[in-house]
Formats: sequence, C-alpha cells, structure tokens
Amino acid sequence: MSIRIAATGSYVPERILSNADLEKMVETNDEWIRTRTGIEERRIASPEQATSDLAYEACRKALETAGISGKEVDAIIVGTITPDFVFPSTGCILQHRLGAEGAFCFDLEAACSGLLYSLEVAYSLMKTHPKKYKYVLVCGAEKLSSITDWTNRNTCVLFGDGAGAILLENTEEDGPDCVIASDLHTDGGYGDILKMPAGGSRMPATKESLEAHLHFIHMEGKEVFKLAVNAMVGAGKSVLEEAGITPDEVKMVIPHQANSRIILAVAPRLGVPEERVYMNINRYGNTSAASIGLCLDEAVRAGKLAKGDYVLLTAFGGGLTWGAMLLRF
Ligand code: ACO
Repeated sequence: MSIRIAATGSYVPERILSNADLEKMVETNDEWIRTRTGIEERRIASPEQATSDLAYEACRKALETAGISGKEVDAIIVGTITPDFVFPSTGCILQHRLGAEGAFCFDLEAACSGLLYSLEVAYSLMKTHPKKYKYVLVCGAEKLSSITDWTNRNTCVLFGDGAGAILLENTEEDGPDCVIASDLHTDGGYGDILKMPAGGSRMPATKESLEAHLHFIHMEGKEVFKLAVNAMVGAGKSVLEEAGITPDEVKMVIPHQANSRIILAVAPRLGVPEERVYMNINRYGNTSAASIGLCLDEAVRAGKLAKGDYVLLTAFGGGLTWGAMLLRF
C-alpha cells in the first residue's frame, strides 16, 4: 500500500484590497509594502464569510477533482487560528457541509505551520491504520482579516484571507508514500513575540481588552524575521538529509508566504535557485495556515508538478512553530 496526494483545492475571496487602498486607511505607501514584504494586494472575506466557508470551497474543489463525495472521507483536519467559533470546531462545521458523515473532524492550531502539522498528523493516522483511513482531508484556512488591527500599519499590510486543501489517499498501489520526510518543531519560549493577547481564558474579552486592541495579531516583526530564516533553513536541510535528496533534485520549494525577503533569504541557504521557489505572496499576502495549500494547488493546476517530483514545504509561525516536509508527487 502507499499514501498519495489524490487532489488539491484552494479558494480566495473575491474582494481585493490593494496597497493603494491601504494608503487610504493607514500611514503607509505602496513602495514600502512592496519592497519590505513583496505584497501588492490581498483578498478579504465578506462579512458573511467565516473560515469554514473558505475551507468549504477549497475542500469541495479537492473532492471534485478526485471524483469522490464527502461520504468517502474518513477524517478532516483543519489548520487554523481563526476558527468560526472557539467551539464547535471548524472541522465539525465543514463535516456537516461536505456531507462527510463518517469522518472524525477537528481543528489544529499551529499558526502559519498549521498545514504542515496537520499533514503530519493525517499521514501518521493513515500509516498506522491504513484500513480505517482511506481518505483524509487536510485544510489550512484563515480569515485573518477578522483578527487584524486595521489601524496598525505594522501588521495590517501583511495579512489576507484564503484556504488550501489537500486530499490524501491510502491506495493499494505499492511504491513510495507522498510524505518522504518531515522535521517539525515548537519553542513555546518565544510565544510572546507573535500572539493574540486576548480572547482566550488568560484574558477573556472585556471593554478594556477591546479598547486596548488586544484581540488582534501582535508581532515583533524583526525578531520573527530573524528566527524564521534560520528555523526554516535548518528544518529544510534536515529533511533533505534524512531523505538523501540533494537540493538539485528538488523540483519546487513552497515556503510559507510571510514575506518575500524571508523566502528569498531561505532559498539560497537551502541551495535551491530562486526560479524553483514558489511565490504568490504578491497577490495574497500572508494567509497563515492557508498559504502553502494555496501555492500547492496553484502549482498543480498550472501543470508545474508531475508524478514523482519532489516538493519541499517549509513553514514558520506563532507558537513558535516551524518545520519542513519533503513530498513526492
Ligand atoms: N508602512 C510604512 N512604514 C512602516 C510600515 C508600513 N506599513 N510598517 C512599519 N513601518 C516603519 C516602521 O515604523 C519603522 O519606522 P522607524 O524606523 O521610523 O521606526 C520602519 O518602517 C522599519 O520598520 P521595521 O519593523 O524595522 O521594518 P522591517 O524591515 O523589519 O519589516 C516586517 C517589517 C515586514 C513586519 C518584517 O519584520 C517581517 O516580515 N517580519 C516577519 C513577519 C512574519 O514572518 N510573521 C510570521 C507569520 S505571522 C503568523 O504567524 C500569524
């Protein structure tokens, strides 16, 4: 038996928020945003859309592409830091909408590393219980606009909304699995440099917490930047070494889309030339757990990946969480 990627899917909301639009909201300018982050525009969900609605569209496309119905899915894992509710989980809401009655479903919170962490859990379940888990749907989905402080220029220019889904299948075919190697990490000691201070049990919502803008993403950008580069390079090198694959054999690197400068600092340190590094941050900004799935689906649909290609995923986010995973198509 072997585990393969049966299909991918993605979705972004229709509304585009450009750098020019942001110039009217905070003291910023297109040139600063483009040169410091690589972002030109981002998508913003409508007030009626919640994270599960974005996730639903991405998952529906993945199921359609694979030609299976929700009924055949055995588990759904949603990586997100912007669930519709604290509970029920986004996974539960999605299960109902997809008609995936037989699936057990939950959310996994690992910030921008949410998709990699979710893939690791899904793959491990499928490897351990191949008869029980034939199809597992993994989705990274975020409505970051709901936790973005639109009055703070340090953060509001960075984030956007979207969803990316990957359907894994346990097949009867012998051969290598789609997950070749992974290296995931956590360092809770750095939790304070990237967080949403209020809204949890530590600081439930009060008039004061709202007035102090504590229900939004808080970030020490420079500190995060430095740690992100070293962490993603370390994890990336470690999975290549574990797999016995050289950088030349990697068809594509898909890094979490946080900042083009971070991405372009990571690529040469991994020994992979820029042209083999996938970037769509210019169109979508940082969509946290959704970003890698959004890139992967775009690359697949554009015919940029063929059977047998090696794809290196790297991610970094609040927690701190980070890691890398080598996939084989
Ligand atoms: N427009 C214009 N000027 C700005 C803006 C803006 N939007 N934002 C900040 N500035 C100013 C600052 O006030 C500062 O001015 P000063 O020198 O007069 O004080 C100057 O620009 C430089 O600011 P820095 O913060 O030093 O800029 P930096 O080059 O570090 O870029 C950025 C900031 C883009 C946030 C960068 O640090 C970064 O990308 N960090 C990592 C982000 C990340 O990876 N996050 C992880 C994932 S997020 C998640 O997990 C949800």
